[in-house]
Amino acid sequence: MFTKFSYRTVGEIARRCSELGIEIPFAEDASALAREFVFCGRRLPNRLGSAPMEGADSEHDGSPSPLTFSRYRALARGGSAVIWFEAVAVSEESRSSHNQLGLTEDNLSEFRRHCDEAREEGLKANGFAPLLVIQANHSGRYSDSAIPLTAWSNPCLEKNPKYLRGRPATDEELERIEELQKNTARLSRLAGFNAIDVKACHGYLAAELLSARSRPGRYGGDYEGRTRFYKNCIKAAKAEETPDFRITTRLGIYDGFPYPWGFGASEDGGREPDLSEPSRLAGELLADGIDSVCLTMGNPYVTTHVTRPYNSGAYVPDEDPLEGVARICRGVGKIKKDHPGLTILSSGPSFLRGFSGYYAAGAVESGLCDGMLFGRMSLACPDFANDILTRGEPDPKKVCMACGKCGELIRAHLPTGCVVRNPEVYLKYLREYERRLKDGTK
Ligand SMILES: Cc1cc2nc3c(=O)[nH]c(=O)nc-3n(C[C@H](O)[C@H](O)[C@H](O)COP(=O)(O)O)c2cc1C
Repeated sequence: MFTKFSYRTVGEIARRCSELGIEIPFAEDASALAREFVFCGRRLPNRLGSAPMEGADSEHDGSPSPLTFSRYRALARGGSAVIWFEAVAVSEESRSSHNQLGLTEDNLSEFRRHCDEAREEGLKANGFAPLLVIQANHSGRYSDSAIPLTAWSNPCLEKNPKYLRGRPATDEELERIEELQKNTARLSRLAGFNAIDVKACHGYLAAELLSARSRPGRYGGDYEGRTRFYKNCIKAAKAEETPDFRITTRLGIYDGFPYPWGFGASEDGGREPDLSEPSRLAGELLADGIDSVCLTMGNPYVTTHVTRPYNSGAYVPDEDPLEGVARICRGVGKIKKDHPGLTILSSGPSFLRGFSGYYAAGAVESGLCDGMLFGRMSLACPDFANDILTRGEPDPKKVCMACGKCGELIRAHLPTGCVVRNPEVYLKYLREYERRLKDGTK
């Protein structure tokens, strides 16, 4: 079923949730989001953050372009306490596209300039410098290289010939990638980021290994084997940790594929997640000194609606998008309940448009998470945090419409932003994408 977003009040959404038998918490106001909290060792003035959003607008050498700089300056002015910088490749061959950002010795100064500018903009506009997290990633199966490295075979993905490319990484290659993680952590610290996210979500290499049940050898099979690469990457990054530079992670707790191919999937093949392994992993992270994380769900290449509930996208999901919002909320809440000592930022609020702030505040008030990262909303309305903190909700004329256009741009490896709210910059890229579709040159 496909639902048009026609809700005019929180009450109408609540009624629909009750028809669907799901719960989405809404607060009366957004004041819970203005409460200070500590994330990655820093006391922060609010509980809002911009989620990592790949912009496919780097220079050829992986450094930020003028367009990248302007995106992040806008976010820094926007008032969220956390700016979670998009996925940055740990090596040339692991880039998701020719224009994905990549941090190297040679372009370190450009990333340093990004950190300096973001802090200055934040200080000038809001009186505080946002916490700057960088996301380090190996795109694995989704790398734009001749032979991408996969974790192991996943029939849910490989029925699409596009994702049949590549070959499983050898154990030795995985060891080398662990070292790359350490190097990216070192460079990120030198660039001036406050934290590095060892990414394990959305089907990329570290996330795919978490469900590599049929992979032989040290990096597959049982829980210990499947989590080895991820834990080793964290350990490698930890060697670079200082009081001012912390290690965090964005962990996908449910892939949306049936068992045995999905991480966090229930063995009976049902659609409901089974979070026993993700919860065990979260507990182990906490025991290893990772006290601040972001949690997410789904694989946007295949189970897009699980990661980002939408109105319009590549396929029509067989559920109401509200069920997607509720699933993330419930799953993150379960991990928070199991591990109250873990400070957790949740994901996936943008479908709720103007009501997303009340949802984020409701989730915090209900103890389901400690704060919220906003993805598509941050592209549509980089001021969303200041709007929510001052008026309770983002300006209805500026909100994300969950139209999926940003998703189309990123898949086409074209500079990505909000076509609806920022057509001056991004409409030409959408036109280019449509032209390629028509010509069959996609
Ligand atoms: C265009 C686009 C780019 C994205 N890039 C990243 C990324 O670099 N890293 C990541 O972890 N998630 C990425 N995501 C997922 C978002 O961070 C977020 O989890 C998702 O959009 C759901 O949040 P929302 O409902 O607030 O949009 C991306 C999503 C979109 C639409």
